[in-house]
Amino acid sequence: EQRQYIQQIRLMPDAPKSYHVVTYGCQMNAHDSEILAGMLRDMGMEEAADRESADFVLFNTCCVRDNAERRALGNVTWLKEVRKKNPRLMIGVCGCMIQQPGMAEKILKQYRFVDLAFGTANLYRLPELMLKALESDRAVVEVEEQNTIAEGLPVQRLRHDAAYITIMYGCDNYCTYCIVPYVRGRERSREMSAIVAEAEALRDSGVKEIMLLGQNVNSYGKGLQTPVTFAQLLKALDDVGIPRIRFMTSHPKDLSDELIDVMAHSKHILPQFHLPVQHGNDEILRRMNRHYNRAQYLDRVRKLREAIPAIGLTTDIIVGFPGETDEEFEDTIKLCDEVRYDAMFTFIYSKRVGTPAASMPDAATREDKQRRFDKLLEAANRVSAEKHAEYIGKTVRVLVDGETGKDEYNLSSRTNGGRLVHLAGDKSLIGQFIDVKITSGNTWALYGKVGE
Ligand code: SAH
Ligand code: SF4
Ligand code: F3S
Repeated sequence: EQRQYIQQIRLMPDAPKSYHVVTYGCQMNAHDSEILAGMLRDMGMEEAADRESADFVLFNTCCVRDNAERRALGNVTWLKEVRKKNPRLMIGVCGCMIQQPGMAEKILKQYRFVDLAFGTANLYRLPELMLKALESDRAVVEVEEQNTIAEGLPVQRLRHDAAYITIMYGCDNYCTYCIVPYVRGRERSREMSAIVAEAEALRDSGVKEIMLLGQNVNSYGKGLQTPVTFAQLLKALDDVGIPRIRFMTSHPKDLSDELIDVMAHSKHILPQFHLPVQHGNDEILRRMNRHYNRAQYLDRVRKLREAIPAIGLTTDIIVGFPGETDEEFEDTIKLCDEVRYDAMFTFIYSKRVGTPAASMPDAATREDKQRRFDKLLEAANRVSAEKHAEYIGKTVRVLVDGETGKDEYNLSSRTNGGRLVHLAGDKSLIGQFIDVKITSGNTWALYGKVGE
């Protein structure tokens, strides 16, 4: 049905000729944007270099934290000025922010210049909504319930050597601080055969690395007619023969011994694990509804490191969850010192309307939270710098993935463990595996020389 709408738009003389998609949020959104771009391309539009030169600008929004929302809205407002210069400009807003109850209506009221608004559940219906918007003078709004999986959508991939594959949608975990289950719907998995077929096609087109996406990949396959486990899926994908396989995100409560075993014996699954702990204190973990405690989490880390000694371990942490005391916060610092993560993504708690945590009492001030946050960051940077120092003088194998935009170290690359390495070299190295000797490092990255 949508393909028909795509053809109709192609034939419309006054349809937009170019598009620009602006993406906020996680990898899942980044991949959704690749699909949106694929549909727009098939409608006959060219990708514009920036938003000022496009006929259609689409904002794919995130609402996981307050600042993500504010950034998106700020940019939409700015486009109003651009529109004054280019009256033909069409503006669309989609994604997680719009999927919140009542939000689409609110946006259209406050931002009267928006032509099109739709949620995450309607993503695959962009052609139909676009056609509606083109045929009427009024704004088109569509937000429906989440329950479908649309297969066979066109994709305009950002990179040629690495690709995202979504293996499951939604989340059923309802961590008390998190809006994702409300805006991404119930957990549902794609058929294993469809995922393997997508991977095979990517392999045949020369892709060297795939990243499997889901809010909780460890519970992949539960609702399928013939249930399979994530470990079984990984095993099947390992046999496809793509050199590097990565995945995210894993919930610690569902990290099975079977998965650790498959990873330890695989040929292509990278020794990387993003295992968000969120907090180091048992009482806070309970109030977050995480379904594990500190000891259980540390047991998973120990198992992973025993089975895969080279594993690069990363995490997400929330500081200032409602009711967090200074003592409870210290448990997070202690846990981080114990685990010594390879990288940490740290966030100050942001209240999300409609989530259980939003109505929990919260006595700590903004300053308390900022002070804790700074302390955690300091601890994270210290560990990271120590780890980087250990690399100096060593030779590591990397996949070169792009340009840095800098003169001195113009290329960026990643080790199998997921560490960022900047190096100097010709652009033709992008997409290749090479050996790099590490010469220096700071908190954020390693720096190296090619072929020594
Ligand atoms: N599904 C993934 C994470 C999705 S959101 C998982 O469970 O690990 C990415 C990260 O954002 C979360 O891990 C959490 O650390 C952070 N986050 C989510 N909601 C938040 C909130 N309300 N305030 C601050 N950080 C939040
Ligand atoms: Fe949010 Fe928790 Fe689901 Fe992750 S597992 S998306 S933090 S509810
Ligand atoms: Fe944001 Fe939606 Fe991802 S809320 S973090 S873009 S799932």
